[in-house]
Amino acid sequence: MKPMPDKDTPRYAVLGNPVAHSRSPFIHEAFARQCGLPISYERVLSPLDAFEATLQAFAAAGGRGVNITVPFKFQALAMASRRTPRAVLAGAANVLKLDEPDGWLADNTDGVGLVRDIEAGAGVALAGRRVLLLGAGGAAAGALGPLIAARPAEIVLANRTRPNAEAIAAAHAAWADRHRVTLAVRGFDDAGEAFDVVVNATSSSLAGAGVPVGARVLARGALALDMMYGAAAATFLRWAEAAGARARDGLGMLVEQAAEAFFVFRGVMPHSRPVLATLQAQIEAEAAVAGAAATDITPK
Ligand code: ATR
Repeated sequence: MKPMPDKDTPRYAVLGNPVAHSRSPFIHEAFARQCGLPISYERVLSPLDAFEATLQAFAAAGGRGVNITVPFKFQALAMASRRTPRAVLAGAANVLKLDEPDGWLADNTDGVGLVRDIEAGAGVALAGRRVLLLGAGGAAAGALGPLIAARPAEIVLANRTRPNAEAIAAAHAAWADRHRVTLAVRGFDDAGEAFDVVVNATSSSLAGAGVPVGARVLARGALALDMMYGAAAATFLRWAEAAGARARDGLGMLVEQAAEAFFVFRGVMPHSRPVLATLQAQIEAEAAVAGAAATDITPK
């Protein structure tokens, strides 16, 4: 068991429903050790109909900041008293910081995390590249603003329900103009060909469906990144590898968005690379144990 935190140790949490699977405590505690800034970091399960009450109870108990996960990112933005421009553009917040005496500051670090993972983690500079973003839900909306700010030549949004993609494209039209990025909406069938970077922000794999576009969307040596990781990313990663692309899961993005959130909370930017390496090793070890357990129960 973890020792009880000292009463002066700042308290942070990841708040969602479900939240038991969250890797945020591991990541933030690793950043805190690395930076020599002690924190207490916990998982807070919020009832679906009591997000604000759960948040305020955590604040009353000394909580200073919260990472917000499914399904509360929209409510988090709505209830904040101040919002960063990138959270407003995303239409959702994944970070709430207590901002006394005003209340909560809402921020969104998801898109910055994705861009940093693509550029620093995978080593692909986005400027001038052609990018295909699959999906138009909350994950895609969170990513689009920072993707535009990285100034690729073009971003194509492809989604099953075209009006959803048109809505997020419209919300980002002025931002895209300002950065001289061509932003287009297409269907999966006519998404186009030979993109340098393909990002999967759909939840199609959770629905048990395959990758909704053909391998022609991948340029030779393209980077194909799924925002999910573990089993949820497996179908997309296999598809990308089979087509000769560089496949990357969403673990790097997860660690990078957390690093940016840590910076928002504490004003110090941690090093993400060693934490990502440890997390990758930990997840591989868990998968090996799960695989061995599955083998053990095979009838002999
Ligand atoms: P998230 O917060 O993960 O983005 P979301 O807001 O529910 O979740 O968005 C899910 C995205 O995955 C949407 O783009 C959705 O497409 P629609 O806009 O058409 O609903 C996409 N999606 C979900 N299941 C899919 C499937 N089986 N095939 C293709 N796209 C799918």
